[in-house]
Amino acid sequence: MQHNIKKIGVMTSGGDAPGMNAAIRAVARACSYYNVKCVGYYRGYQGMIEADSVELTARSVKNIVSKGGTILKSARSMEFKTKEGRKKAYDNLVEEGVDAMVLIGGDGTFTGGMIFSKEYDIPVIGVPGTIDNDISGTKFTIGYDTALNTVVEAIDKIRDTASSHNRLFFVEVMGRDAGFIALNAGVGAGAEEILIPEEDLGLDRLLESLQRSRRSGKSSSIVVVSEGDKIGKNVFELAEYVTENLPDYEARVSVLGHMQRGGKPSCFDRVLASRLGVKAVELILDGQSNVMVGVSDNKLIVTNIEKAVKGKHTINKELLRISDILSV
Ligand code: F6P
Repeated sequence: MQHNIKKIGVMTSGGDAPGMNAAIRAVARACSYYNVKCVGYYRGYQGMIEADSVELTARSVKNIVSKGGTILKSARSMEFKTKEGRKKAYDNLVEEGVDAMVLIGGDGTFTGGMIFSKEYDIPVIGVPGTIDNDISGTKFTIGYDTALNTVVEAIDKIRDTASSHNRLFFVEVMGRDAGFIALNAGVGAGAEEILIPEEDLGLDRLLESLQRSRRSGKSSSIVVVSEGDKIGKNVFELAEYVTENLPDYEARVSVLGHMQRGGKPSCFDRVLASRLGVKAVELILDGQSNVMVGVSDNKLIVTNIEKAVKGKHTINKELLRISDILSV
């Protein structure tokens, strides 16, 4: 590979996701393999602004492939949204001798990268890392599979107590404005209803469905509610509304929260992160910039970062139909 790249920077930004460490390791090791120096920036764009960095070598990233969170820490930098902040970041990269950046994160991270690479002539490559799976240009984001497994395990446990007490549970899951986690974990855990922002079920249909469940002999039910869903916006109020209208139901609410972002990455996420991290470095050495590397049909694909930010990753609505059939 013919190139002038001597040093590559890497950072993690936005909500952390299991597998980010595997991606950092892949970037650092690929750099070492291709004889390029690697530097990690702490707390995403904020670390770039403050020149808060650490040299990453093949050995310094040992034993992190299995660790949740991110050793580089993560943040959502307000300062990077300003021209002055981005200028400081650029000056620091020049000072440090960084020729290109690998940005591991989601939507917000890539929006920042897109603006930065328009203002300054520095190649940026995006690696999608978020539990939400809401990025266009990739079928899967790093951390999504682990989060799904975490949620399914949590709902399985809730199912035990729900069925012991003949209760109805509303389980709120993360996903920001997207229903990927709710829909797939809901089907995986056999939920009776799944509320997602992409499909407005409506309160009346929810009540009808729960009544039908009762009539069909079910003594307990699980409703998975995506945090971005319109009728589930306040899951506690939703539970109250349902019990006011269906008084024979005893309802409880469980908000799974940030536990969904933690834990050891699944093998799927480790492999995905490893592939994407290596490819990000190779793209830089190939002279590419302003693109995101993703996966589709088990092949690595490259998408313009602007397209990845502006495009929409749509859910598989067929799963809603499957869920309806299976919750009969
Ligand atoms: O984007 C990942 C995510 O976990 C979303 O699912 C959630 O809406 C958000 O981050 C929570 O952000 P914070 O950790 O800042 O509360």
